[in-house]
Order: sequence, then C-alpha cells, then structure tokens
Amino acid sequence: MSDKKIIIAIDGHSSTGKSTVAKQLAKALQYIYVDTGAMYRAVTLYAMRKGFIGADHFEEDKLEEVLPEINIRFEVNPKTGIAEVLLNGENVEHEIRTLDVSKHVSKIAAVSQVRKKLVEQQHQMGVEKGIVMDGRDIGTVVFPKAELKLFMTATAKDRAERRFLELKVRDENITYEDVLKNVVNRDHIDSTRKDSPLRQAGDAIKIDNSNLTLQEQFEQILQLAKTAIARA
Ligand code: DC
Repeated sequence: MSDKKIIIAIDGHSSTGKSTVAKQLAKALQYIYVDTGAMYRAVTLYAMRKGFIGADHFEEDKLEEVLPEINIRFEVNPKTGIAEVLLNGENVEHEIRTLDVSKHVSKIAAVSQVRKKLVEQQHQMGVEKGIVMDGRDIGTVVFPKAELKLFMTATAKDRAERRFLELKVRDENITYEDVLKNVVNRDHIDSTRKDSPLRQAGDAIKIDNSNLTLQEQFEQILQLAKTAIARA
C-alpha cells in the first residue's frame, strides 16, 4: 500500500453509523478522525445554555454576535484513544449527545455564519491529509477534492431503532417514536437548508447499510480506502 495520506470524507443521513465506521477506519489507517457533527452540537449546546434557542424560539442574531467567543477543539481521551469535543475548554462529549441537543442542532447548522466558522476550522484540520472526517457536507463543500467520498444511508426505521437503543441506556424515559420523529425531522432540515444542504456528491460511493453488519460494512469500506490510497 502506498504511504501517501489521503482525505476520506464520509457524509450521509443522521444515525447511519458514520462515526462508528469513521473511527474504525481512522484507527486501522492510523489517520485522524474528525466528527464535524460534534462541532455543530457543541455550538448548539452553547446556544441552549445562553437561552438563545428553545422549544419555540431561536434568536439567531444573538448567536451570530457571540460566535467569536465560542472555541471548539478536540482532545484525545488517553483511555479510549478517541478525540472528544471541548467547548471553551470544557469537555462536553456526553452532553452534546442528548436528544435535547439533537432536537435543536439542525436549526443551528442551518446558520451560514456558524457553518463558515466551523468549515474554516475543518479545512485547517485537513491540511496535512491523513484524515477521516464525517458530516453532511464534507465531500460537497469542505473537501470537494477528497480522494475517497462515501455517502451512507439506511431506512429511517433502521436508523431510529439503532439510535433508540443507544439513547435508552442513558435515558429510560426516551421513546422510539420521539427518536424516529427526530431522525425524520433532521433529515428534512439538513437536506432542504439553503447553505450546504445534505446531498450525495456526484463522485461519492453510496453505502446503504440497512442490511449490513458492522463488520461487513467495515471490511467493505476498508477495501475502498486501500484502493483509494494505492491510487493516490
Ligand atoms: O452527525 P450528527 O448527527 O452528530 O450531526 C448533528 C447535526 O449537525 C446534523 O443534524 C446536521 C449537522 N451537521 C451539518 O450540518 N454538517 C456537518 N458537516 C455535520 C453535521
């Protein structure tokens, strides 16, 4: 295998297991893994704490004003070897994964000023390549020249079932219906927003994992990555 480093962009719908496979791939290739959804989630948590967004209000202009105060970075947890997200120095890795944050994040991610700030930071992270980045616009906007682009999808029902099992461990009041509603709602907002909507890049390889085990999916994607690296 060539030792040339490439950029691997993984996009797709919510809860398709992008981050699971991206982490596995980064580990196998000794690449850096960047979860860009975590960055949008951290900005969302900040906006929620400030009271800028809630069940029936969103003060977008206030968020835009304080954007320069928001610092987001990743730090590797030495116990797991996985990068966790820091919001102004505070580790918020667990807090950003709640259904509450999921309910607001698509609205925050539709704000152009937010995207501009985070996309600039994502570009910097990829300067030296050797990176697996997952999100919604990585192959279309952040790294349109990525050497390997994947677009992951599965039925909304399959995705909601998986996400429900994950969330239920931490919150027993959660219902499957709530999770399904959130998955469908986020798909809609993410795909119809004006700035960088979720769509499959023309040169992305589509992976429908409704009927694939994690191991099958990983092997398929690792093979694609090896081929792309050899071609680079
Ligand atoms: O991958 P995730 O579910 O953690 O992402 C959370 C939200 O952030 C998702 O609903 C859309 C948004 N997002 C985005 O707009 N662009 C990205 N590159 C990553 C995530």
